[in-house]
Amino acid sequence: MEQQAIVRKLESILDLPTLPLVVDKVREAIRDVNADAQRIAKIIEDDPAMMARVLKVVNSPLYGGREPINSLQTAVARMGMNAVNNIAMSTSVFSTFGKEDDKLFDRKGYWRHCICAGIGAAIIYERCKANIKKRYTADVLHLCGLLHDIGKLVLVRYFHDDFLKAIRLADDEGLALVAAEKQTVGMDHAEIGGWLAARWKIPADLAQVVRYHHDPAAAPEEVRDLAMLCHCSNYICNLENLGSGGDAAAPSFQESAWTKLGLALSDISVIVDRITEESKKSEVLMAFV
Ligand SMILES: [Fe+2]
Ligand SMILES: [Fe+2]
Repeated sequence: MEQQAIVRKLESILDLPTLPLVVDKVREAIRDVNADAQRIAKIIEDDPAMMARVLKVVNSPLYGGREPINSLQTAVARMGMNAVNNIAMSTSVFSTFGKEDDKLFDRKGYWRHCICAGIGAAIIYERCKANIKKRYTADVLHLCGLLHDIGKLVLVRYFHDDFLKAIRLADDEGLALVAAEKQTVGMDHAEIGGWLAARWKIPADLAQVVRYHHDPAAAPEEVRDLAMLCHCSNYICNLENLGSGGDAAAPSFQESAWTKLGLALSDISVIVDRITEESKKSEVLMAFV
């Protein structure tokens, strides 16, 4: 199928999952220059399920400090509006696509891969900070990881047979999954994920990371560092089978990203140990899957 035809098909999908309304409302409220913590907290509190999820995560070992956080207002005051917004978004993405499993697509393994990729991006960032111009918080890096492969969820649901063919083709011929998807579907999961992220009105820089996580050198300059972090973390998680990303046969590797971050292949084992350790703290996220 031609790329344009695929985008037309995507745009015509009537039951395409959306993020909960509360995520839209928080995003809008944050954009307001007069946004205040109380208002953001109130919007989330109006959705009790969302409130419970966010409180669970902010108190989990992944973010939790010594003092328990009992209210959204305290969460926003301590962590900031953007961090709480990112966590609200993170906890929502798990429920956007169904839970049904497929013989060739292990959904729990998929989410574990995404969680580990986010944790890995934060670990690599800490290691390579000196070579990165912008400053990032862990919630942003975790969210990048959670979202980077969302295109696969679209593929598995709406381009099911062609996607399974791509997984088989990648396995049989040792091809990169994105290359196999191009052959069988006509568009790869990074392109489709970038489209979905934009459609969900996820912040533009995150949508670009999703779009370029397999080719960070092609990413717009302002998001290149973030795309490189996600790319390297994704490579390590695929290589070391942390979760199952579906790219294990030939994980995508762009040497320039490693060089620019100042990362060496010999760093992998230390990073893997840290991801394994940190991911134990993320069980709270797996419980949402
Ligand atoms: Fe990917
Ligand atoms: Fe991935």
